[in-house]
Amino acid sequence: MIRRVNNFSAGPSTLPLDVLEEAQAEFVDYHGAGMALIEMSHRGKHFDAVHHEAMAMSRKVFQVPDDFQVLFLQGGATLQFSMVPMNLLQQRTRAGYVDSGSWAQGAISDARHYGEIYTAWDGQGCDYTRMPATEELQLQPDTCYLHITSNETIGGTRYVDWPAVDVPLICDMSSDYMSRSIPWDRFDLVYGGLQKNLGPAGMALLFVRDSILEHCNRNIGRYLRYDIHAEKDSMFNTPPVFPIYMLGKILKWMDARGGLETIEAEAEAKAAILYSVIDSSDGYFHCPVDMDSRSVMNVVFRLTSEELEKRFLDESESAELLNLKGHRSVGGCRASIYNAMPREGAQALADFMIDFRERHPV
Ligand SMILES: Cc1ncc(COP(=O)(O)O)c(C=O)c1O
Repeated sequence: MIRRVNNFSAGPSTLPLDVLEEAQAEFVDYHGAGMALIEMSHRGKHFDAVHHEAMAMSRKVFQVPDDFQVLFLQGGATLQFSMVPMNLLQQRTRAGYVDSGSWAQGAISDARHYGEIYTAWDGQGCDYTRMPATEELQLQPDTCYLHITSNETIGGTRYVDWPAVDVPLICDMSSDYMSRSIPWDRFDLVYGGLQKNLGPAGMALLFVRDSILEHCNRNIGRYLRYDIHAEKDSMFNTPPVFPIYMLGKILKWMDARGGLETIEAEAEAKAAILYSVIDSSDGYFHCPVDMDSRSVMNVVFRLTSEELEKRFLDESESAELLNLKGHRSVGGCRASIYNAMPREGAQALADFMIDFRERHPV
């Protein structure tokens, strides 16, 4: 009997058991080749099929229009914090960034090395407890793009309504990728690391509008150029073969479950289970995020004291509800309920929270 716990880790995070088992079954001898996929040439027929299927599934499941290129790049989402401005921040213009919390700040601090950027909205004033409305964004003249973070993994906030702006919109979707549909007409480039909803860490999946590629900076090293990766079908160098293989399998798993609409409904149902326990607890559990910006992937909450939080975390671990500790920069608790977390997992946590409150009244 395999041991599987309820893993609420923020990333790398729980992946579908069916997919893990399928990968295990074909790991050593891939489709009768007498070798593993990670031992073969990436130019051979086996990997070629894997690569093109993962590309096709990315387009299908994300419902991507034809004028976007799909890119598989190494370096996780973090490398994109630099690649975006390296490619797109021209010397003579500036880029706007929404400072919605820790991950947005990561993108901002890297972008500063490559040109002029400004803060189009600063979440510090509200202690990063919500996302801005379009009307609150302050765009400056000659803005070459606006960068946003769709879901702040640490703060537990997300855009419920996407900004509608008339400059190219670029979005880090790492922590809610493939949990809801993307209105492609609003975006010019979206990126995200695989390691939450889509596979192992170390790779980023990008969708880049063709018109953006025409204006990319060509005076940077070749690996850093989006236009080269697009031209070479993400096979410019040896690609991250194992993450691409897992991505393809996970997308097929999602497709078989009904695709984006089903996944989105399921994600909202799981989040509702947890938020309803928090909201009906008379302040025993408290979510610091504004109702209108609550994340569906990362549910953050506090208890009435740090001692009680510690006890909650200790006891939840004994109950095999793992990785509920909030990020070290903010403390508290966080339940990451990505797509592969079954509804029963969210329910088990909700039941535990109710039981804990009864056992430890304040
Ligand atoms: C929103 C967001 N952006 C970027 C990153 C960085 O991703 P990576 O570690 O894959 O570079 C993370 C990682 O958790 C994230 O949550």
